[in-house]
Amino acid sequence: MDWWRSAVVYQVYPRSFADSDGDGIGDLPGIRSRLDHLTDLGVDALWISPWYPSPMRDAGYDVSDFRDIEPAFGTLADADALVADAHRLGLRVLLDIVPNHTSDQHRWFQEALAAGPGSTERARYWFRDGRGRGGEEPPNDWVSQFGGPAWTRVTETDGRPGQWYLHLYTPGQPDLNWENPEVRTEMEDVLRFWFDRGVDGFRIDVAHGLAKAPGLPDRGGTPWPLPPDDEAAAGPDRRADDDLHPHWDRDAVHEIYRSWRRVADSYPQRRVFVAEAWVDRPRRLARYVRHDELHTAFNFDFLNTPWDDRLLRATIDRTIAALAEVGAPATWVLENHDVVRSVSRFARPQPDRHGRVWLEDLLELPCDPVVGLRRARAAAALMLALPGGAYIFQGQELGLPEVEDLAPSARRDPMWEQTGHARLGRDGCRVPVPWSGDRPPYGFSPPGAADPWLPQPADWADRSVEAESADPSSTLSLFRSALRLRREHPALGDGTLTWLASPEGTLAFSRAPGFACWVNVSATSVELPAGALDDSRVLLASSPLDTDRALPADTTIWVGT
Ligand code: GLC
Repeated sequence: MDWWRSAVVYQVYPRSFADSDGDGIGDLPGIRSRLDHLTDLGVDALWISPWYPSPMRDAGYDVSDFRDIEPAFGTLADADALVADAHRLGLRVLLDIVPNHTSDQHRWFQEALAAGPGSTERARYWFRDGRGRGGEEPPNDWVSQFGGPAWTRVTETDGRPGQWYLHLYTPGQPDLNWENPEVRTEMEDVLRFWFDRGVDGFRIDVAHGLAKAPGLPDRGGTPWPLPPDDEAAAGPDRRADDDLHPHWDRDAVHEIYRSWRRVADSYPQRRVFVAEAWVDRPRRLARYVRHDELHTAFNFDFLNTPWDDRLLRATIDRTIAALAEVGAPATWVLENHDVVRSVSRFARPQPDRHGRVWLEDLLELPCDPVVGLRRARAAAALMLALPGGAYIFQGQELGLPEVEDLAPSARRDPMWEQTGHARLGRDGCRVPVPWSGDRPPYGFSPPGAADPWLPQPADWADRSVEAESADPSSTLSLFRSALRLRREHPALGDGTLTWLASPEGTLAFSRAPGFACWVNVSATSVELPAGALDDSRVLLASSPLDTDRALPADTTIWVGT
């Protein structure tokens, strides 16, 4: 069996995981020292967010050298030791490759600035003359994901205002030109550099963004994301919305991944990929995981689904159906370093449709953190019972909430400044992990260290790994039990599900052999149908059960049948 079809992967965000040297920033020796947390939890692999040298304009997603380690995080020797330790413990290691852009401090970009218009150095990026008189206007109407135009004008070496370069993210992240064969060769060499050091695979950053429309046309009114419902309405035969958008999810990305797959398959122990592709339509997402392309792709449709039984079931069905057509497993995810923590999303009244949720919008809604935690636990138990693999973001296993009240001066996400403070940004889910003790830094850093790079809340003592390990009803204990059962129970992981009839407000499915999952998504306790649990026993409950006939509000149970 291919391990990745069922794998549970734990996302480590290195800045915030564990700080060994007391500078308030997590590092590789810190990760090494905490690998036992991952084996105790029972995951199969870890994915480490970028650890390369970086000016940190976008927390490491602005890479200045793809073949080395950020000095604040450690050295290549630390990386080798970390991979070796993980392998010894039976954990696989995935890295994060950022192929859409480099840092503006990368040697290539510096060479491009120095070499001037028309040079081969500039042809590795997207340099264009501006529009309007004197080239004062950006070459097209594309916008940066973090706000403002996606173009910045450079000053040429003679001191005059010159060409513009494309950056779909910060100006410190110039987009690479994937039509240039040199870019393709270089990135495949980078893959080999790390595969040769023993890493087991890569998460691909912005996997849907590498190909740009020929001629870089204006976007105009082209919508993004495309509403998922359209697809259902249009049916499977309608001509796909190919190349609708000038820089997202274009058909030309797939040839790149076919070539990457050949690199991965050239190693005796096959290496794997997971795509970060924000493509809302499962049918389009499935194209990334065709048999000769990537192995898996995050299912952000699930992450973007409100706590609502009908919407959840529709998402699950759509996902499984689309992926079954290409023979790929689903990859479920509820959290990562870019989105509001699930506890805090679920603590609010739920929207009536799918969509990305932003912190500043949530702050206007009433908040019930107790409900949020119950739902987050129930959602995690649902996720881990579904067919396929799943990702857990560090701290999710502790039920950490979003830190919603970071002082403006503490915010580090470029989104905050670049949107003129319209968006609060993603720092609230990136706050360092509490390990032990009753006050910050909760064992994140050694005694006497500098303050953590983002401040931790004063009330996290009972959410530390140490505190939750000692509490059988904690979220950590729930995750540990769920992952232990996942390893033991033959029905879990890759496979299929069969929906069972269940009362309104609930979801129920069975998996062979001998497993069923019941989820009460509603706000009140639901009587289970007579006989529903006859001859079965509860293996796991995301919240305490009062009787064996009723499923409490916002609760998932696993039963052996
Ligand atoms: C991905 C990363 C995000 C980063 C962006 C640009 O979406 O997950 O953190 O800001 O790419 O690299």
